[in-house]
Amino acid sequence: MSNAYGRFAEYYDLLGWNVFARNASIRLRSFFKLRRLKPEIILDLACGTGELEKQLRKTGIKFVGVDASPSMLQAARRKNSGVKFRLGDAAGIRLNRQFDMVLLLFDSANHMRSLKHLHRVFANARRHLKKDGFFIFDFISERGLEEWEQINIKRTRQYTLFYYGHYYHETMSSDIFIEAFIKKNGKYYDRIFQKIVERTYLNSDIIDGLTESGFSKILVSPYDYGDEIENASRYWFVCS
Ligand SMILES: C[S@@+](CC[C@H](N)C(=O)[O-])C[C@H]1O[C@@H](n2cnc3c(N)ncnc32)[C@H](O)[C@@H]1O
Repeated sequence: MSNAYGRFAEYYDLLGWNVFARNASIRLRSFFKLRRLKPEIILDLACGTGELEKQLRKTGIKFVGVDASPSMLQAARRKNSGVKFRLGDAAGIRLNRQFDMVLLLFDSANHMRSLKHLHRVFANARRHLKKDGFFIFDFISERGLEEWEQINIKRTRQYTLFYYGHYYHETMSSDIFIEAFIKKNGKYYDRIFQKIVERTYLNSDIIDGLTESGFSKILVSPYDYGDEIENASRYWFVCS
């Protein structure tokens, strides 16, 4: 199993990478309210450090989290005693039960190694979903990956963080580099360096995969309310 998020897992939350899941938990709560849903159990594919579980289990929802990185799961378990976490590939894992909702959040769909692999994840989400359940994920568009083409620097008392990406039009993929220096014992710095590859596809290819997997209602909206549907940086898919 890949451990791409090896040492990065240790500092993922500290460096602010858990903020997406925090915001997503608020968005999901509104969704539950609007649709009058009371999900009992959710499958969180590519759950990372389990921030979503931490935010939503207070509401009584049970979770099973799946991730391909042992280090991310270690962090998730530390934060969420009593929640089940399983090591596995989102496309291949079989849990032999069905859920009220399946999630795949924060670029996780862009992490899958090919369109075929992503389609297998969709089929697996459908397999694990109750008949009237929802599969929800976000997806970064080509424009979104292009926006990584700049050096971002964040400096706090505890760390200095750099991240930047390079987008390849031919393969519609991006190499993203994350480098951080984290203060240890007030004196020394721990350095981490993480390369992540993210891929994007046309929304029509995504929708084909969802349809083939048995989803009949697919709602796509820009993730950021200010963006236009034709050229949003990130999309929010709600499928049933
Ligand atoms: C950017 S993180 C998102 C984690 C979490 N969902 C969040 O919101 O913080 C992407 C996660 O996808 C996981 N991942 C990548 N490929 C995967 C796969 N094929 N199956 C399961 N997890 C995968 C990585 O290990 C990592 O934890």
